[in-house]
Amino acid sequence: MADLDRLDLLIAAVEKKHKYRTVCLDFIRHIGGQEIAKRTSLKEAIKSTCSKLHQVSGAFLENRPDFLQWLTELHTLPEELYSEMIKQYCQDKMRSHSSTNERLPILNEFFQKCLKSLAPIHSLLDLGCGFNPLALAWMPLAKDPMYLGIDVLADMTGFDQQFLQHTRIRGRVICKDFLGVLPKQHFQVALVLKIIPLIDQIEKEHTRQWLENIPADHLLVSFPVYSLSRKGKGMLENYTMRFMKMIEGGNWKMERFEFSTELAFLLHHQ
Ligand SMILES: C[S@@+](CC[C@H](N)C(=O)[O-])C[C@H]1O[C@@H](n2cnc3c(N)ncnc32)[C@H](O)[C@@H]1O
Repeated sequence: MADLDRLDLLIAAVEKKHKYRTVCLDFIRHIGGQEIAKRTSLKEAIKSTCSKLHQVSGAFLENRPDFLQWLTELHTLPEELYSEMIKQYCQDKMRSHSSTNERLPILNEFFQKCLKSLAPIHSLLDLGCGFNPLALAWMPLAKDPMYLGIDVLADMTGFDQQFLQHTRIRGRVICKDFLGVLPKQHFQVALVLKIIPLIDQIEKEHTRQWLENIPADHLLVSFPVYSLSRKGKGMLENYTMRFMKMIEGGNWKMERFEFSTELAFLLHHQ
């Protein structure tokens, strides 16, 4: 059977699985195409596609939230992003995604410290955003900022989008594979938070080129200090070395920030 026919069968099989029903099609096609090229058996390719989708996306949101219930709750709250009720709601919901949950203990300082030199931020591109729109109230933003978030889970990005609308933030959250095409629009800052280790699992040889192509003046790149399994020994040193090597010889100026749960680098295009 031709690889293209096998890819169609693989996509149909993956889409049928409850756990992957909200992963955007272009991402299943991307990962599935790679796995088909590596394997002779279709069954093996389906299995390894699912496992990769889990590693790079599903694993961070193990217990799927009841988004309808979340939205019902949201619509009873004020529309003001900085109101205490909205901030409490955001902190509560950020616990559901392991990435934003890990950032909660440092939330008051993380964006303020990392983005201080650029404040106020007037446009933000958030690649692999997860529930990061819920952290907007903790960022040093300009009065009417523009936000574009991208992630591969349709139910999550749908919720994020409703959150932006409720709090009247200009912008969108779209369900797309950011390794496919990057936006054409230019941004002041791009957030590349805890996603480089995931890109390394899919396109390691292209990670540097991908980073260079991000349409923003400044990139805030971060790495987790702990792994999901909490065996984080040496991650700080390993990620620092990996990142230094990756940007070696590039036309960037860099600042480094270390927090108890995250390591961050702010890159400025020269
Ligand atoms: C480790 S989490 C980081 C989430 C967020 N950046 C943060 O730091 O809180 C990685 C996120 O990237 C998303 N993701 C992974 N690969 C992606 C891709 N190729 N395109 C878009 N989103 C992707 C996952 O679905 C997941 O929500």
